[in-house]
Parts: sequence; structure tokens; C-alpha cells
Amino acid sequence: MAIPVLTIDGPSGAGKGTVSRLLAKKLGWHYLDSGSIYRSLAIGLLKKSVDLNNVAEVVNVAKAMVLEFDCGDELVVKLDGEDITAQLGLENIGNTASIIAAQPEVRRVLLQKQQDFRRQPGLVADGRDMGTVVFPDAENKVFLTASSIKRAERRYKQLKEKGIDANLSRLTEDIEERDRRDTERATAPLSMASGALFIDSSDMTIDAVIAEVLKLIR
Ligand code: C5P
Repeated sequence: MAIPVLTIDGPSGAGKGTVSRLLAKKLGWHYLDSGSIYRSLAIGLLKKSVDLNNVAEVVNVAKAMVLEFDCGDELVVKLDGEDITAQLGLENIGNTASIIAAQPEVRRVLLQKQQDFRRQPGLVADGRDMGTVVFPDAENKVFLTASSIKRAERRYKQLKEKGIDANLSRLTEDIEERDRRDTERATAPLSMASGALFIDSSDMTIDAVIAEVLKLIR
């Protein structure tokens, strides 16, 4: 029997990470945070000072990197044996990830690494192209979004809570720039998979979003 997959795609800051992690816990399924794979590669490239326009070199680093994920209560990620969890959420890492994610060769190398997360009893996969490219045969697909202002406000709050200085208008601009890059790229652009449930979380609580998605699964 095919291993069940629930895909949750959408733009940055829509709440996919929180919702996906809680759903995986509720269902007792594995969890794939596919953005963290692109982010890990970004960290590896910046550490090695690789020119991001040198696609061959970027692909070499992507092929060689060894990633270990511990998806307990908090996600812990190791890149080539080094714990990089603390760097994963940084704004410049997200922006660099979005630049390299536009390269089809890079996406091809990372495809299998993502598909390997599909294990019994099931998988909740969060990203941009989970329902369209990585797990097109998933039986449950969700497209979770929210207005760019709401997403920037949430991000602002998260950063402030961590004691990181942030500027709301700058964050809104960054989010809109990232949306543009992710939506307009030629390969695997952010788009709603056919048959996906559309949820706008702008004025919804996390619990309300989770209840909507669980209705779909049951
Ligand atoms: O979701 P997150 O913000 O961690 O993703 C960082 C970047 O990685 C995104 O802006 C996007 O460009 C890229 N990404 C992607 N496909 C995915 C997940 C993330 O292109 N499935």
C-alpha cells in the first residue's frame, strides 16, 4: 500500500511549519520541512564562499552534503556533522535558499533527498512544490497562504520574541520579493496543486487551520 502523504504548500510565513509539525504529531506521521533542505544548502554554500551563480559548483556542494534530521519536538539539523539548527532561521539564509532554489539542476539533486522522507506510517510534507512535483501522488493536498502584511507581522513577532532586531516594512518587502522569486521561477514555481484545499490563514488561529486540514484527512 502506498505510504500516505499530506502536502502543505504555500508562501513563506503562512504558518506551514507550525501547522505541519503539529499535524505530524497528531497523526503520528513523519515530518519533512523541505525549506530546511534548501536552507542547509545555503548555509553550506555561504560557509564555503561559493559563487551562487556558479551552478556546477552549487550542484557539487548539494550532491556532497550529508544532512541529518532529528524531527523531535524541535527540529535539529546537522550538515556534514555540524549542528546548524541555530542558523537555519536567519533571514539571509532564507533569501539565499530562495536564490539557489530557482536553479533546476539544484532542485533535481535535492528531489530524492526529499522523497526519502516518505516512510510508514505516513508523511506531512511542507514546502512550495510538495503537491505539484515532489509527491504528486499524495492523496491529501493543502495550499496554505495569508496576506503578505500578516505574514510579515508574524515574522516580526517571532524575531522580536527571540530578541532579534527587526524592521516591519523591510520584512514585508523581503517577503514580497521572495514570493515574486518563488512564484515566477520557471522550475517548480510556487503554485496550488490541482485538487488542493485552499486555506487563507490571515484571520485564522493555528487550531482553526489544523481543524480544517483534519476534516480533509478524515
Ligand atoms: O520554507 P522556507 O522559507 O524555509 O524556504 C526557504 C526557500 O527555499 C523558499 O523561499 C524557496 O525558495 C525554497 N523552497 C523551495 N521549495 C521547497 C521549499 C523551499 O523552493 N519545497
